[in-house]
Parts: sequence; C-alpha cells; structure tokens
Amino acid sequence: MRAKLVAANWKMNGSFSLLDNMLDVLIPYSGEESCQVVICPPNVLLSSLKKAVEGTKIEVGAQNVHTEISGAFTGETSAPLLKECGVQWCIVGHSERRVLFDESDEFIRNKTETLLKHGIRPILCVGESLEQRESGNHEEVVVTQLRKGLSGFAADDQSRCVVAYEPIWAIGTGKTATPEQANSMHSIIRKELESLASSEVAEKIQILYGGSVNVENAKILLTQSEIDGALVGGASLKIDAFPQIVAAGS
Ligand code: 13P
Repeated sequence: MRAKLVAANWKMNGSFSLLDNMLDVLIPYSGEESCQVVICPPNVLLSSLKKAVEGTKIEVGAQNVHTEISGAFTGETSAPLLKECGVQWCIVGHSERRVLFDESDEFIRNKTETLLKHGIRPILCVGESLEQRESGNHEEVVVTQLRKGLSGFAADDQSRCVVAYEPIWAIGTGKTATPEQANSMHSIIRKELESLASSEVAEKIQILYGGSVNVENAKILLTQSEIDGALVGGASLKIDAFPQIVAAGS
C-alpha cells in the first residue's frame, strides 16, 4: 500500500506570517493518523519552516535547485545548502519552469540526479498543454517527459522519486482533470515506470495529481486507485482549505 502524500507548492507567494498562521491550523491536522504532508515555500522561508515543524509529521520541500553544487550562478540555490536548511523534498520539472524558464528535459534530469546525490527526494512534474491534449498527443508527451526525467538512474534512486502529473491546462485555471482523466494518466505513468524500472519500483512510486485541487474535489481525486496524493498550488495558501485537503488525504 502506498502512503498518500499531500504537498503544497506555494510558488512565489506566502510570507513569514502566512507560514505561522498556516502551521497553527495545519499541525493539529498532521498527527500520527494523517497522510504525509510536505510544504514547499519560497527558499527564504525554509529555515523557519524547518524549525517550526520539528517533532511534527510535516516535511520540508523546496521548489527548485541547480544542477551544480556551487559556482557563479547568480540567484540559484545548491542542493547541499537546501539540505542544510532541512530540505527533504524538491520539486523539479514544474511546467512553470519548463515554459517560463525554458528548462529542458535534460536539465531537469540532471537536477534530479543532483538531488538524489544529496539525499533530497525529487518530486518530478510531468504534464501536457491543452493543445497537446486536444491533438491527442498527451500520453506521448507525458511518457517522454517521464522517460527523459528518470533516465539512467538505478532502481533504488528511481524508487526515491515521486511523480506529479500536472496537466498545464488545469494549473491555476479552476479546470480540474476529471478523476477518470487523472486516474487513467496515472495508470499510463505507472505502466511506463514498470518498463523504465521494474514492477516492484513502479508499485512503490507515489504519483500525485496537481491542477486546481481544492476542498471540493480533493476527496474524489484522492480516493482514485492510482492517485497517491496531490500537489496543491493556490489552495495550499488558504488556511481554510489546505488543512482540509490534508484531511481528505488522511
Ligand atoms: P493550482 O493548484 O493553483 O492549480 O496549481 C497547481 C500546481 O501548479 C502545483 O504545483
């Protein structure tokens, strides 16, 4: 049985006071019985998050990392420094990084490798655009992103990754994939993981759904057989929503 995981991607939002307020409400929802919970705030909040969640089930995630571990890369953050901040997880391959920052599959794969080397678990995002779905290419697009993102890793390393299926047309649009659409893509992803790694590894890897997850749709999405959790954007910034989404996954 794969544990459920609900992760918050705050993107370039949030503040020290939102962090305090969110944790006041969220910590009581994140007891022994709860699903795994990860918060990925902007980097400047990481150390405060780490301190505040000590002794709780909430884990610390980052939203980005560089492939290199040091050097002249103004504005970037290295995996060893993230590790020092207590980071256990890091998102890679988010469509906003692929599209707005022109990140290639190869660069994303190399980030994944750097994270694995430094003991940080990657959350590898894959997902198609509306155009790709409408032209019937969505399965091929997602499978290619997955293959390239995980190529060349040993089974042990692959099994430390989490995959997040985030159709671009569902991100921040209020338009969620139907539970059937999401479940069906997750099955395709798992089948691909079987041939990329092994059925044993594929069985272990958690596949999250992301794209307009909210309090209303969380339960139905999170009870699909192939959906092992959610990567939540907008609703993860709402104190009256995110704890309830965690409850829906618990
Ligand atoms: P929304 O939940 O705001 O659609 O964002 C999803 C997302 O991009 C999470 O990484």
